[in-house]
Amino acid sequence: MDLGLGGRGYLLTGASRGLGFATARALIDDGARVLISSRSAASVDAAVSALGTAASGVPADLADAGAAEALVTAARERLGRIDGALISVGGPAPGTVLDTAEEDWRAGIESVLLGPLRLVKALVPHLDEGAVIGLVLSTSVRQPLDGLAISNGLRPGLAMTAKGLADELGPRGIRVVGLLPGSIDTERLGQVLASRSGGGLPDAGVVAPIPLGRVGRPEEFGRVAAFVLSPAASYVTGTMIAVDGGRLRTP
Ligand SMILES: NC(=O)c1ccc[n+]([C@@H]2O[C@H](COP(=O)([O-])OP(=O)(O)OC[C@H]3O[C@@H](n4cnc5c(N)ncnc54)[C@H](OP(=O)(O)O)[C@@H]3O)[C@@H](O)[C@H]2O)c1
Repeated sequence: MDLGLGGRGYLLTGASRGLGFATARALIDDGARVLISSRSAASVDAAVSALGTAASGVPADLADAGAAEALVTAARERLGRIDGALISVGGPAPGTVLDTAEEDWRAGIESVLLGPLRLVKALVPHLDEGAVIGLVLSTSVRQPLDGLAISNGLRPGLAMTAKGLADELGPRGIRVVGLLPGSIDTERLGQVLASRSGGGLPDAGVVAPIPLGRVGRPEEFGRVAAFVLSPAASYVTGTMIAVDGGRLRTP
């Protein structure tokens, strides 16, 4: 199947490694061009080198109020046209509801909630019919995750915000989709596991609830995200797609 990605241009945040990077790789493999971003200029440069000539990069921290406009300006300059965006951002601090400090909630709200919202608002005036916005969320949209109170608190609200946005943009032919990674083998997963057990590696307790019997590989997420962002998924909007090996206890 031709995904129809040839010549299209995508902005990806949180894409110097992990799920964003894997999505950039999958988009490029099928002919797209990307502008990737994350906070560290050195990490962005290294990722661009790894991705090759179809990629360029710009550093930006989504928690900064000015990042959204800067990213959209850079995307228009580098890509010429913006056919879509994958908005990913580092996960919020781990902790239980009772243990999580208010300042961690505020930091999470700035980066996980307001950062993506600001970018969406800056992007939309520059999107045409056929464009798409993908939001990397979490299975905490549907089921709480142990020790991730901020994620459990913010992601469901973002999912419903994405649903509302899909209603608002649908008449213009612009799609909005949320992606719900389960346990995918990235630096973030290591951090979450280390905060729970001190180990950091997926053990039997992590794998047992996953019907496929293993954690996911970043490229398994990236391929799904690239499909969702492609014209091949032209009738998919206003929905959440889990990439979790079957772990969620909801269909
Ligand atoms: N992997 C999983 O199993 C899993 C499961 C559920 C949900 N998620 C969520 O999916 C998202 C991506 O996770 P991941 O596994 O790809 O994490 P990752 O491997 O740690 O990568 C995170 C990426 O985001 C960038 N980043 C972090 N904070 C940022 C900020 N404020 N502004 C812009 N870029 C930022 C990082 O680069 P810099 O450090 O250079 O900024 C990096 O490129 C996170 O929100 C995570 O909570 C992941």
